[in-house]
Amino acid sequence: MAASGGLSARRAGAIRGEARAPGDKSISHRALVLGALAGGESTVAGLLEGHDVLRTAAAMRALGAEVERDLTDNGPIWRISGAQWRSPERALYFGNSGTGCRLVLGAAAGAGVAARFDGDLSLRNRPMRRVAEPLIAMGAKVDAADGRLPIDLHPGALHGVEYALTVASAQVKSAILLAALGAKGKTTVIEPAPSRDHTERMLAAFGARLDIAAAGGGRRIAIEGGQQLKAASVEVPGDPSSAAFLAAAAAIAPGSDVLIRNVLVNPLRAGFYATLKEMGAAVEFVGARNLSGEPVADIRVRHAPLNGVVVPAQCAPSMIDEYPILSIVAAFASGTTRMEGLAELRVKESDRLAAIEDGLKANGVIAKSGLDWLEVQGRNGDVAGGGLVKTRLDHRIAMSFLVMGLASEKPVSIDDAAMIATSFPDFVATLRGLGGEIAPQ
Ligand code: S3P
Repeated sequence: MAASGGLSARRAGAIRGEARAPGDKSISHRALVLGALAGGESTVAGLLEGHDVLRTAAAMRALGAEVERDLTDNGPIWRISGAQWRSPERALYFGNSGTGCRLVLGAAAGAGVAARFDGDLSLRNRPMRRVAEPLIAMGAKVDAADGRLPIDLHPGALHGVEYALTVASAQVKSAILLAALGAKGKTTVIEPAPSRDHTERMLAAFGARLDIAAAGGGRRIAIEGGQQLKAASVEVPGDPSSAAFLAAAAAIAPGSDVLIRNVLVNPLRAGFYATLKEMGAAVEFVGARNLSGEPVADIRVRHAPLNGVVVPAQCAPSMIDEYPILSIVAAFASGTTRMEGLAELRVKESDRLAAIEDGLKANGVIAKSGLDWLEVQGRNGDVAGGGLVKTRLDHRIAMSFLVMGLASEKPVSIDDAAMIATSFPDFVATLRGLGGEIAPQ
C-alpha cells in the first residue's frame, strides 16, 4: 500500500510470521542502468518497483533504451534493450533519489550526451560536487557551479584518470566506473574504505573486466574504457536496508519471531545485522546461497533483552542507511549506544542526525549528536512514545519512527508517509501482516 498523509503506529504485541522485503534498491538501479548500456535484451526479476527506481527506469527510456514490464506467473519481469544513448528532450527528473541521479550522471557523461539533471527539494539540497568533480577531471563538461541540482551535462570526450575518493561513497565510485566505460584508456578509483560493491559485481556479470585489489584500508578498482557490455539476466534479492525495519520491529517487541525471506547479505551491506546480534537480539542467516553473483539468505530475528553498544566508524559504510532504525533499537536497549563516523548522515535524504535526535526527544528518549556521532540513552524497553515526528521528505525517518510506535507505551505518529513509497511501497501492509498496527493518523 502506498500511503500518504500522516500515519500512527501503536503497540499491539509481538511481531511474528514470515515476510519478504522489496527488491534491493541499489541493485535495482544498477540493473536498469547496465541493461540500458548493454547490447541485447537484459531481463530483471524482483526489481524494486518503488518511486526512486521507477524514476531511473524513466530516465533510461528518455536516454534511448527500451524498458518494458511484463507480468508473468512468477511476478513482473523487466526487459531492457540497450541502445546508443541520445540526449533527452526534457530534464531527467530523479525525485528523491540520490543513487539514481548520481549513477546516471556518470553513465551519461561516459555516453557523451547532453542532459539536465533535477530532483525534488530534498535532492536539490544534496551535494553533487563529489560526483561532478571526478567527472570533470575525466573531461566531462558539467555545470555544477554551486554543487547542487539542477545540473547541466554537455557532450564531451572522456579520458581515464586515477581518482582517490575522500568519502567511502558507492554512489560516487559507481558514477566514475560507469563514466569510465565510455572513456579513453584506464580509469582507477581508490576508495578509503570498502563501500558496497554491487556495481563491480554487476559489471562483471555484464561481461566487463575489472581489476580489484585491496589498497590501504580500502580498495583500488581499475577498468579499461571502451568495453561493450553484454545483456544479462538479473534476479534482485530483498533489500537488507528495508528488511532492517522488520528485523528491528521483531528485536524490540517482546515475544517476536520473524523470518524474512531472500535477503541480500553481502558483507558490505550487513553491518546492521551484526550490530543487532551484538546488542543481544537472536539473529540467524538461514540457507545462505548465491543469487546473480550476490550472497543471499533468509534472516530470522527473535526478541531478546538488548544492550547498548559502541558502533565504531569503520562499521559505517556497511550500514550507512540503517542508523535511523538502529537508533530506534538503541532506544529500547539498556544503557547508552554510541555511533561514530556518521558525517555522511547529514547529507542523506535529510540531515538524519538532526531528524533522529528530534524524533527521539519527541518520544521521551534522550539523545545527543555531534558533527559525526550520535548517542542514544536506552530506556530498557520502556519508551514513552506519544510524539509526532517530522519526516523531512525522508523515507527512512518515516519508517523508523513507525517501528518505534509498535513497541512504545503510547502511539507514535509521523506527519507524512508519502516518501515510504520511494523504497518500500508495501511497508505498512507487510508490517500489518506480521501483527503490527499502523493506521492513518
Ligand atoms: C547507495 C550508496 C549509499 C547509500 C544509498 C545507496 C548506492 O550512498 O546511502 O542509499 O546504491 O550506491 P553513498 O554511496 O553516497 O554513501
